[in-house]
Amino acid sequence: MQKNCFALSALVLALPFASAVGAADSAPDAGQVVAAIEGVFGTTPGERRNHIKGTCAAGDFVGTREAARISASPLFSGKPVPVVARFSLSGGNPKAPDVAKSGRGMALEFQLPKGQLHHITMLNTPMFGAANPQTFLDLMQALQPDPATGKPDPEKIKTFKASHPDNKAQADYLASNNPPASYASSSYWGIHTFKFVDKKGKATLVRWQFVPQDGEKRLSDDELKTAGGNFLESALIERTGQGPVRWDMMVSIGQPGDAETDPTVLWPAERPQIKAGTLTIRSAVAQKGAPCEPINYDPLVMAPGIQPTADPVLQFRSPAYAVSFGKRLSER
Ligand code: HEM
Repeated sequence: MQKNCFALSALVLALPFASAVGAADSAPDAGQVVAAIEGVFGTTPGERRNHIKGTCAAGDFVGTREAARISASPLFSGKPVPVVARFSLSGGNPKAPDVAKSGRGMALEFQLPKGQLHHITMLNTPMFGAANPQTFLDLMQALQPDPATGKPDPEKIKTFKASHPDNKAQADYLASNNPPASYASSSYWGIHTFKFVDKKGKATLVRWQFVPQDGEKRLSDDELKTAGGNFLESALIERTGQGPVRWDMMVSIGQPGDAETDPTVLWPAERPQIKAGTLTIRSAVAQKGAPCEPINYDPLVMAPGIQPTADPVLQFRSPAYAVSFGKRLSER
């Protein structure tokens, strides 16, 4: 049952995000965090506990030689790799309005030769709102609805903000950038630092952004008032009906001293970039019964050639997604 249908305002927006500096020594339990998400949004049996509202899509990815020089991943073979994609709104409210100033997600499952899989699960913000899982949990706890009002207690939110400066950059980004007019006209960032590993085992620290060839288009303030609650899915279906939609995977190369384990801190803008490939989305469809629906887009599912860093948020996502996945499977 949905408990809390308040529009995800500039705070909740920063939903899957935040970090309390120095508070991450003992990570919370994934079950506790998923229960806290359920406390904020309620539960919809059989469905994702976060990013519940989404749309399935399909296409392929072709990697470049430049990327193949620094990563042995089969993603960069130069041959088309089939992709099962899912676009989504953050949060666990299936009726969240598409104008909400919250995160949008792009999740990709690359179906590589010999049955190998690789997952990339991104947001439309360059940074996350939590440097560690404890900040994420603290945010969820601050957002629990007050039984008297059915809404979060503003005092608890104030206390959270004051004690968790690592949440600020993403919350500010979401508050000051209107949501995209279409899933097709948004960038999506990997946010975490990853390692590209070449054939000789040499590792390069990287971060990436999928840049839309359609260009970045956000809703204007007027459109925010008139666009309605459910336009993203139909816009993507319509757009793919007109022809393929493409994103370039732009990879930044890290330098010594760049943040490796903190997803709330950006790298300097002048880091060298390479184009690692192009994603082409050719079709989109409502998620019910479609191929993306049953997938657990665990970001630690990786083929050789790309490796995770010790980023505590990246490492925590895997058990948290497993809890949500287990629940939705067992409720079907
Ligand atoms: C402590 C940090 C985080 C927690 C606890 C968390 C939790 C979750 C959970 C429980 C789900 C639903 C999983 C399922 O049932 O399949 C989910 C989905 C998702 N998350 Fe996170 N998340 C976190 C951080 C992030 C970050 C840093 C990103 C982006 C870089 C991200 C992007 C997404 C996306 C795009 C989805 C939807 C995937 C799909 O379409 O199935 N999350 N998250």
